[in-house]
Amino acid sequence: MAEVVILPDAAAAGELAADIIGDLVQARPDAVLGVATGSTPLPVYQALAARRLDLSRLRAFALDEYVGLALDHPQSYHSVIAREVTGPLGLDPARVHVPGEGPIEHAGDVYEHALTEAGGVDLQLLGLGTDGHIGFNEPGSSLASLTRVKTLTEQTRRDNARFFDSVDDVPIHCITQGLGTILRARRLLLLAFGERKAEAVAAAVEGPVTANHPGSAIQLHPRVTVLVDEAAAARLEHADYYRYVHANKPYWQPR
Ligand code: F6R
Repeated sequence: MAEVVILPDAAAAGELAADIIGDLVQARPDAVLGVATGSTPLPVYQALAARRLDLSRLRAFALDEYVGLALDHPQSYHSVIAREVTGPLGLDPARVHVPGEGPIEHAGDVYEHALTEAGGVDLQLLGLGTDGHIGFNEPGSSLASLTRVKTLTEQTRRDNARFFDSVDDVPIHCITQGLGTILRARRLLLLAFGERKAEAVAAAVEGPVTANHPGSAIQLHPRVTVLVDEAAAARLEHADYYRYVHANKPYWQPR
């Protein structure tokens, strides 16, 4: 069962996630952090930046990137990661990787190779799409999938239109780590906030494991922590039990 922590707001979740990442970096300064883009992880990056930790040896791998957008477009995930992660956290740009470089037909294999060479991801941050995607693995994605080009759903393009002038400017294609890639990370930290995510959170945590809901793949992973606010937790059947488990967490369990 995933560990589910229900927090008062996104800022509190950001602080807890920063605690967890801080512990990881203290134990292993050159750890490999899997980073996500979008609005959800921003409080994590803000909390982490405020701690002024030495993260110069940390290595980072992004989950995904749009295809068909110049890498220096302000909304490319290369640009977003540079602006919101690499700079504010003081990471070494040479240690930060985003998929989609070079010929696109080989970019998935190249990225898988780089992940393997790095020894795999220690901690993967994940957001959750309103349609249930993690990374850009849209409904129907194979549970064993690896990094590859995918087609975004209309729902995801509408959700992400807020970052562009119009929905028509949101790319149709993306390259994303697969569900199989994500499941290889040694720990998953999924965050979701707001009532628009409530249904997807319930399906990911408590629904059947199904390619129809890619977020449910987290149930196949032995070490998952889910940080949600009250609104995103609203559809969880066992919310009271998760609160009770968290309140009675044995002292020997790491956070
Ligand atoms: C982004 C990513 C996506 C987002 C998801 C939620 O790298 O992989 O899965 O996490 O679309 O987006 P926000 O956080 O903007 O609601």
